[in-house]
Amino acid sequence: MASQVDMLFFTLLAMSVAVVVVIAGLIVYFGYKYRRRPENLVADQIQGSMRLEIAWSVIPLLIAMGIFVWGARLYFEMASPPAQARDVYVVAKQWMWEFQHQDGMREINALHVPLGEPVRLTMVSQDMIHSFFVPAFRVKQDVLPQRYTTAWFQATQPGTYHLFCAEYCGTLHSGMVGDVVVMAPQDFQTWSSQGDAETPAEAGEHLFAQFGCINCHKADNSGRGPALAGVFGRTVTFADGTTTVADENYIRESILNPDAHVVKGYEPIMPSFQGQLNEDQLLQLLAYIKSLGAKQP
Ligand code: CUA
Repeated sequence: MASQVDMLFFTLLAMSVAVVVVIAGLIVYFGYKYRRRPENLVADQIQGSMRLEIAWSVIPLLIAMGIFVWGARLYFEMASPPAQARDVYVVAKQWMWEFQHQDGMREINALHVPLGEPVRLTMVSQDMIHSFFVPAFRVKQDVLPQRYTTAWFQATQPGTYHLFCAEYCGTLHSGMVGDVVVMAPQDFQTWSSQGDAETPAEAGEHLFAQFGCINCHKADNSGRGPALAGVFGRTVTFADGTTTVADENYIRESILNPDAHVVKGYEPIMPSFQGQLNEDQLLQLLAYIKSLGAKQP
């Protein structure tokens, strides 16, 4: 996306420079041309020109709307990751970046990604607001406590790129930096196969049993809560008739504040798990519930 962002930015810059040069130039030129002279001591009064008024209203309006449409399209493209993107979970905390890959690899202050593949980050903060910033990719996204935000990129050149925290987050904010390492796909395969840790989805499955979720959310839908297979990405209907698409933030709310939105046909009997699960564990449960969806036909 970097070249497109740059194109928009430099177009705006060029237009600003052009306007400044024209206005400043006319000020100097008119200052000279209409300077006070003995034969010209009293100014002529000029009535307005409707054509001129319309022209300098409509032309800038069209230019501004053009820029708006261009910027909005680019924004939507940047805000919507491709469906087949590689998922990476990010937990920011004072003062480090933690990354977890779906095959189990974990890393701190370094993010390895394969060349040419879209990567989607699902990010949350354990304490205060941080901001994930990779200048080379023109990617900058705030990382918030209690809420998932996403960002995505597709690296086009191998190399190591700076990662910064771009939101003041306390004493060592300036040290909250890292690297994004873009590797050729084969090298990335070799790198990621070194991990023998369990995947986030597997860890989530264990938590699902350990915290007793499995007692109510039974796979055959015979429990006191709805079955969760395929729920991710689906539209769910609540007791009050409203609906939502089950995304990351909805799943999170359902775990931490289950009474906020009770699914139609069920009782508000689920206890809150606020304070019992850390951010890593919440992401693992999320990965497990997502993986259930992937198994659905
Ligand atoms: Cu984290 Cu600044």
